[in-house]
Amino acid sequence: MATEQRDWYDTPLYYDIIFDDGTKQEADFLESALVKHGGKGKRLLEPACGSGRLALEMAGRGWEVSGFDGNAHMIAFAKERIAKAGLKAALWEDWMQSFTLPKGVRGSFDMAHCLVSTFKYLHTENDAAECLRRVAACLRKGGLFFLGLHLTDYDRSGPEHERWVARRGSIEVVCNTHTWEADRKTRLEDLRTRLKITDSGRTHLQETRWQFRTYSAAQLKNLLRKVPELEFVECYDFTYDLTEPRKLDDSYADVLLVLRKV
Ligand SMILES: C[S@@+](CC[C@H](N)C(=O)[O-])C[C@H]1O[C@@H](n2cnc3c(N)ncnc32)[C@H](O)[C@@H]1O
Repeated sequence: MATEQRDWYDTPLYYDIIFDDGTKQEADFLESALVKHGGKGKRLLEPACGSGRLALEMAGRGWEVSGFDGNAHMIAFAKERIAKAGLKAALWEDWMQSFTLPKGVRGSFDMAHCLVSTFKYLHTENDAAECLRRVAACLRKGGLFFLGLHLTDYDRSGPEHERWVARRGSIEVVCNTHTWEADRKTRLEDLRTRLKITDSGRTHLQETRWQFRTYSAAQLKNLLRKVPELEFVECYDFTYDLTEPRKLDDSYADVLLVLRKV
């Protein structure tokens, strides 16, 4: 069977089927963590909101949601599902490293979040710092930014493999992701995702290759020092357990930072 080369974000439904599993847990975490760390309010910004799985969930919980994404297919999908649910969100096409708030979208957000390593799509230190500065500028004083990403093990040899299987209605999606060794000099790692989609007995394959910027704990701390308007508050991991804060170090892979606008 031929494998189609395609950006998997051009097929939002398949992305959504795979990632939707964690949505409720992530939304619970965001709401509880905001309260735990002294936040308040119900206005949030989601940079790179993708298929809108979290935008939908948070809008359904009474949040005033704003979000943007660089992929037009993702934004169209997100807008449609939110309208279908009878909910509202301000969603637009934009880039994390250069976004601006459109007319009619007020800043001073109570919360912003960018989970599941999305931030690593910013390939340079300048773009990463610029994104943080722009998020900070959109938050009110005391507003919180939740940033979740995988740290890189620079000593790992050989590719790493993850596999997920998920279903919705008549569609089954099998997702295999390979991550190759990080290049210490360029701070980039190569990834490949293969989706096997079976819908009503018919199967097709699609493949996406892309790169992530790599971070050790020290490299992440170094980046944060460049954006003093966001102060480090706490760190958790992808178990989303608020009773188990972690040190920001290289002893585990999935870090979830809580940053506060000063
Ligand atoms: C892993 S998905 C995350 C989507 C959503 N935040 C979620 O949690 O499901 C990554 C998203 O980032 C978007 N993206 C990648 N690079 C971007 C950039 N530089 N600016 C804006 N969006 C970007 C992709 O189009 C994709 O929708």
